[in-house]
Amino acid sequence: LLAGGPVAYNKRRDLYVISHYEAVREAARADTALSSAEGITRARVRLPMMITMDRPRHTRLRRAVLPGFTKPALQRWNPTIDALAADLVDGLRAAPGADMVGRLAVPLPVRIIAHVLGIPPEHQDVFRTWSDWIVEGFQLELRPDLPMRFGRSVRGLLRLSAYLQRQLDSGRLLEGDGVLGRLQRDTADGTISAEELFWFTTLLLVAGNETTTNLLSTMFLTLAEHPEQYGLLRERPELVTAAVEEQLRFSSPIQGFYRTATTDYQIGDAVIPARSRVLLLFGAANRDPRQFTDPDVFDVTRPPSQHVAFGSGIHLCLGAHLARAEGQAVLRHLLETTGRVEVTGRPVWNTNSALRGLHHLPVTL
Ligand code: HEM
Repeated sequence: LLAGGPVAYNKRRDLYVISHYEAVREAARADTALSSAEGITRARVRLPMMITMDRPRHTRLRRAVLPGFTKPALQRWNPTIDALAADLVDGLRAAPGADMVGRLAVPLPVRIIAHVLGIPPEHQDVFRTWSDWIVEGFQLELRPDLPMRFGRSVRGLLRLSAYLQRQLDSGRLLEGDGVLGRLQRDTADGTISAEELFWFTTLLLVAGNETTTNLLSTMFLTLAEHPEQYGLLRERPELVTAAVEEQLRFSSPIQGFYRTATTDYQIGDAVIPARSRVLLLFGAANRDPRQFTDPDVFDVTRPPSQHVAFGSGIHLCLGAHLARAEGQAVLRHLLETTGRVEVTGRPVWNTNSALRGLHHLPVTL
């Protein structure tokens, strides 16, 4: 794809695929011509969530929730993220050969989201269970066991909805200093409805869990496969931030999302006709040699570059600062306490081509 033009047409799927860096970034920013409202996954899941809304609906919701997700607002969660990351890395070090996905990459993001949302500690276990069920249902592609999982997903959604309603009615969310408490205060003056609050919570679970899990699991694999880069990071821990960005570029957790053309969309010499489905390949763009020198090399000393792992334009990832903080906390603690990362079993990749991450990764630290 990268050797050809910026866009390729896949006849069998009747799909336009954009892979070049500049073209992907431009397409992500062309939100009027390339709409998200008909779904951004192949299965065209369309729910009342901001990620599948166009302007102006999207703008109002994004404005309402943004204050809780800015870099300064998220900084207050850093001590919790650091403590949990340290705890989970230590647990892994004490269990040679253990699966780092199950023991660290899965629990860290979901626990942090529960905490950031302001779910009281005594409800966090059950919240995590519903979250897992809900997320399963959104992995609609390439799953032969779809009906059963989808059923569980609906059950998770219903339980979460009932729970949030109870919390809203009792005023408990309002008491907390989490993101939901803050949004509930906005709900009181009608800025955001209870239903929107529910769908926003669901979106955070769906958009924030598996993506961060994938960042963490691929980061461990990359570090194991590049011991010289790991050694360099131990000597120069100030490179931790750059290393997480390089990991996001190198193994983009979301490889691509879909759009629907609302009008003819010109790209280079080609025109994507109105009504076409279009796939924006963030993962390919991040390996485009026109943008990145030696793109297939993992190099933590690479000059800062604008990768598109978090997308671009109006839908730019809302949780980017949170995901970064989690990746950095884990890497920092790993470097401080561990001489090297070794994979001591067979890595198992997940089978969803839109998401790059591992199901299973046995490691010894
Ligand atoms: C949007 C990637 C973590 C919440 C996006 C988009 C990408 C992305 C590519 C753009 C979607 C589009 O253009 O259609 C990632 C990656 C993550 C990550 C790679 C982890 C490494 C998170 C976390 C949260 C989150 C932790 C929440 C706590 C969201 C939300 C949107 C979004 C709410 C929609 C924003 C909007 O429509 O305005 N993410 N994400 N993400 N992400 Fe993330």
